[in-house]
Amino acid sequence: MPALLPAVAYSVNVEHADADEQATIAELVKVFTGMAQVVAEHEGRAHRAVHAKGHALLRGRFRVLDGLSPELSHGLFAAPGEYDALVRLSSPPAEQLPDTVSTPRAMAVKILHVPGARVEGGDEQHSQDFLMVNGPAFNTPGISGFLRSAKLLAATTERMPRTKQLLSATLRGTEAALEAVGGQSGTLKALGGEPQHHPLGETFFTQVPFRYGAYIAKFSWVPVSPALKALTGEPLESAPDTQREAVAAFFAQPGAVAEWELRVQLCRDLEKMPIEDASVVWPEELSPYLPVGRLLVEAQASWSADAESSEDQLAFAPWHALAAHRPLGNLNRARRVVMAASREFRSTFNRCPIHEPT
Ligand code: HEM
Repeated sequence: MPALLPAVAYSVNVEHADADEQATIAELVKVFTGMAQVVAEHEGRAHRAVHAKGHALLRGRFRVLDGLSPELSHGLFAAPGEYDALVRLSSPPAEQLPDTVSTPRAMAVKILHVPGARVEGGDEQHSQDFLMVNGPAFNTPGISGFLRSAKLLAATTERMPRTKQLLSATLRGTEAALEAVGGQSGTLKALGGEPQHHPLGETFFTQVPFRYGAYIAKFSWVPVSPALKALTGEPLESAPDTQREAVAAFFAQPGAVAEWELRVQLCRDLEKMPIEDASVVWPEELSPYLPVGRLLVEAQASWSADAESSEDQLAFAPWHALAAHRPLGNLNRARRVVMAASREFRSTFNRCPIHEPT
């Protein structure tokens, strides 16, 4: 195998904002808080503007691997260490849709009590969060295209639940046919065509880049314990809360062990691994994902009676970060503002302040 190129050095010059970026972000705020408002009025409770339906809230331990190479020893990963962590599994829509509408799977992890200088513009003091979904690239290159699809999605919020279930079944068939010939469509999956697979067997990706100390990286959670690996591609029955029930059944087993590896993919070529175009999958032959940590979650109640109020009090966000892991690119810059607006809306509507867990 040819030697890898050296990792690209991080500098502020790797980011480039379009002239209309602030206007697009302001429109995204309107669209997302608008969706959250429609759902809140319909259901009497405000949820996250997207990723509203939680499937599990878990406690675990995160360990930075010993003996990392100098290239990988940066930020949170500069020294070996172990931290408490919280995990929330969710699905992207704004509504509490039945899981028969099968949309992508997401995993948000909050690593607690992380020492070090904080990123500017974040509002938590000690957590390092990683938010990922189960695909390697974002649906659109950047926020302009994302605004167009978000507007279409907003128009269907809390409408046509029966149509969405029927459409989802059709799209799952179409997606399966596409995968059979080696393809995949992020759009079909987002609209309900996601294969109905167990979320604990999935591999998750940040899709967008972050500062990695002196360098730049994307991150991924990969299932590594045998019981998780056995769930990769495992079909779930089609039921309204099938994901919540499947995860609960896994963690209810005495001695259940779930372990994910945190891997980083360093940027080694700014053209082939762009910062501002999140629709490009960074080629693994130019930069393989390398392990830097492990997350261990053991047997527990994954969705307790008070899970809904617990998730209302929590916020996972990429800007809950060390300065060494500053979120990069236009989608991340937009998330800082749009996600804060979503948090503000749901905590005000529900009269439930959001706390950084201690
Ligand atoms: C411009 C792009 C994006 C926007 C505007 C956006 C917006 C949002 C908003 C408003 C929330 C709810 C926040 C809250 O109330 O706490 C959210 C949650 C979430 N987002 Fe995004 N997002 C974007 C891109 C992404 C990307 C690239 C990923 C990962 C690949 C992602 C993964 C997640 C996850 C996992 C959650 C749920 C967090 C939780 O469990 O609390 N988002 N997003």
